[in-house]
Amino acid sequence: MRKTSVSLAALGVVAAISLTACGSSSNDNKSSGSSSKSPSAPASSSAPASSAAASGAVDGKGQKVGIILPDTTSSPRWVTADPQALKANCQKFNLSCNIQNAGGSASKMQTIARQMESSGIKVLMIVDLDAASGAKIEQEAKNNGVIPVDYDRLTPGGGAALYVSFDNVKVGQLQGKTLTQCPQVKNQKKVKYVEIDGAPTDNNATLFKQGYDSVLSKQPGWTKVGEQTGQWDAPTAGRVFNTMLGKDHDIKAVMVANDTMAGAVITDLQRQSLNGQVAVSGQDASAEGLQHIMDGDQCFTIYKPSTAEAEPAVKAIAQLANGQVPDTHGVTITDPQTKKKVPSILATPVAVTKANVAKPINDKYTPKKSVCTGKYVAKCKAAGVK
Ligand code: GAL
Repeated sequence: MRKTSVSLAALGVVAAISLTACGSSSNDNKSSGSSSKSPSAPASSSAPASSAAASGAVDGKGQKVGIILPDTTSSPRWVTADPQALKANCQKFNLSCNIQNAGGSASKMQTIARQMESSGIKVLMIVDLDAASGAKIEQEAKNNGVIPVDYDRLTPGGGAALYVSFDNVKVGQLQGKTLTQCPQVKNQKKVKYVEIDGAPTDNNATLFKQGYDSVLSKQPGWTKVGEQTGQWDAPTAGRVFNTMLGKDHDIKAVMVANDTMAGAVITDLQRQSLNGQVAVSGQDASAEGLQHIMDGDQCFTIYKPSTAEAEPAVKAIAQLANGQVPDTHGVTITDPQTKKKVPSILATPVAVTKANVAKPINDKYTPKKSVCTGKYVAKCKAAGVK
């Protein structure tokens, strides 16, 4: 594998970052890691533009970096919003980005990483599929003189120089708080609820759960009557919820960790004509999720504008490629395995209900053409979609 003096100098930066950016941890982190099988999305890359140099912003000088997204099934974000936002920022910061999707396969992610490293990348940014495979990829990158960075999901034990995500405990807290305000349960004295969590091998799922449990476990009159992982995918979540509802027809709220799984819950409720009578949560502001919110079958989703994640991430990898130290303002997250403080950049999530359902569409995050079709043309107009 390739080693160069420049990369080793960049690795020196890694040490500098970990020494200078330690500070208060904003997330209490625990460990986990996942995998799911699916067809992979086509690779994409972006030719560098000189706009960064011209604007005086950070200039990646056309250096090569690799970005590997996890899958194409757990959330539409990995197929549309994130690749698009990453590509746009690679042009803005004048980086030659090789952006690929591992299609849910950890071994494919390792193969892609090795190919990228052989092509001479300076920085490798990944969304891991599970802690073990992600850590192996990041350790190998470091051994090859490539700086590893965690995007969206922390890789416990990976040793990334930087972690860029949303504040995922805050995501969970926002899910919990917003669920208690849904019309089906607000002001109810007694509420039976169930939880369908994300994949236990995704460190974010652990943080989301930490967040919503910290709210719901203290909500007066709320009793949890079921909890299980939905592995992020619709079939699993559908089977899990069907069993839960079969055991207790009195469920009034479903704390489900993302829109993909919420869709399966709503399908099951529709089969029993209970849709709209049960408060259902979500995350990712997917087209399906926004349609369910307009129908009144989903109470909310959590909108995580990819610009708020992709822009600081790509700017930071451009700085790392230049041997510079990204400014994380002393924010760190504790790696649950190594207990090391990882310099972090954490964005703030937004709750989207019927009242502001147009926002992700008008922000050009969720494609209008995938939401405002058929009966939703009128609903989008009524909701204020431009
Ligand atoms: C999480 C991510 C969520 C959602 C989920 C399913 O790690 O933070 O936004 O996409 O994966 O893929």
